[in-house]
Amino acid sequence: MAKQPSQQLWGGRFTGTLDPIMTQYNESIYFDRVFYSQDVRGSIAYARANTKNGILTQQEFAEIERGFGIVLKEWEEGRFEIKPGVDEDIHTANERRLGEVIGKDIAGKLHTGRSRNDQVATDMRLWLRDQLDTLEGYLVDLLKVIAARAEKDIEAVMPGYTHLQRAQPIRWSHWMLMYASFFTSDLARIRELKTRVNKCPLGCGALAGNPFNVDRDAIAKELGFDGLTMNSLAGVGDRDFVVETLQWGSTLMMHMSRWAEDLIIYSSGEFSFVKLADAYSTGSSLMPQKKNPDSLELLRGKSGRVFGQMAGLMMSVKGIPSTYNKDLQESVEPLLDHVKTVGDSLQIATGVLSTLEIQPENMLKSLTPDMLATDLADYLVRKGVPFRETHHISGQVVALAEKENKPMDQLSFQQLQSVDQRFEQNVMEVFDYQKSVEMRSAKGGTSRSAVMEQIEAVKKALAGGR
Ligand code: ARG
Repeated sequence: MAKQPSQQLWGGRFTGTLDPIMTQYNESIYFDRVFYSQDVRGSIAYARANTKNGILTQQEFAEIERGFGIVLKEWEEGRFEIKPGVDEDIHTANERRLGEVIGKDIAGKLHTGRSRNDQVATDMRLWLRDQLDTLEGYLVDLLKVIAARAEKDIEAVMPGYTHLQRAQPIRWSHWMLMYASFFTSDLARIRELKTRVNKCPLGCGALAGNPFNVDRDAIAKELGFDGLTMNSLAGVGDRDFVVETLQWGSTLMMHMSRWAEDLIIYSSGEFSFVKLADAYSTGSSLMPQKKNPDSLELLRGKSGRVFGQMAGLMMSVKGIPSTYNKDLQESVEPLLDHVKTVGDSLQIATGVLSTLEIQPENMLKSLTPDMLATDLADYLVRKGVPFRETHHISGQVVALAEKENKPMDQLSFQQLQSVDQRFEQNVMEVFDYQKSVEMRSAKGGTSRSAVMEQIEAVKKALAGGR
């Protein structure tokens, strides 16, 4: 385990060997190896830039490119052998192997003017930008399912809640579109985030910049970046792109968790508005009758883990003095876990929603005439009575119904008139849930046309970006 100092990258100055636990504590190869292909790509682009400025000959560059082709193949075929205790991270591992393949004389020139500090930042950004494309795709899929279901299930009417108390009738689609509204904001945010992630730090050196005048614009172009990090100190010392990714995912998972919580409630025996597909539920090892919404509970639970990682990384970064410090290596693991957790969660949510069965008859059964008390007040508003007064009158009708121990719509016309003379025969038409939802036709409301307009807005948001 204890290796000779001379084998290490910075071996020249160091005389003692590392404490074996320090070796383990320091190394990141077991997680940053996921960046193997980005590391190779970045190295080739960097070598090309160093060919244009005369550091490498064309032949040397060709050898480096050929050697990296072999190294890359080894990774892809699972044949790359990590040397425990020697390969500290993906950058040292790739360079060590390149030296074995093409010889140290040429491989030893690769790192001229470069540092692992600009290298790791480049690898992470290259990796993340592709991951963000994938996550955006998953989010688009979820939104497509919401829009499609909202259209298909538009007839279903259910209680809308405030304070988890039955408030007013709404369309089930309207409930789904509340989350589409949150998720389309998340979509806009990830699209914006990508523009900040996709900046090239390569050529910043250890911190002060590159002394061989490498053409950073050419490197960025070759790697498909949209531009450069414009200050070399920031280029190596910045993990805002990771923090922002974790903040983005935390906001998304906050929405996801509320969505899951709603569906957990709606799938309970007391509500029975929805039935989860078997593919996303599990049984109990003890109680044969149980069907548990584990998928939704995990979505809710994993949101906590995601927030924790975000907060943890911000704690790690906040006290770091300027430019690169090893603390920044602590940004890698939360990022990897975050991207996986959010990606899995989006796919699970899409699966849950596309297989969910709704039970519109139970939604209807949960509606009660008192939920139309506002509609009753609005009836008198349309006859010119001030709302503050109609609110009071409608409250008296609610009280009367309670006293008579009857649902509001079972009171006789005479009883309604005893509360207020201005009620006319057609007042009984107020007690109609379909009519109630159709009345709310202003933009953003729960009427059919207003809901259809929201669906169109979601579809339009999906078309933007990419
Ligand atoms: N594995 C390191 C990281 O992820 C690479 C940079 C190491 N640089 C250094 N000067 N020790 O941050």
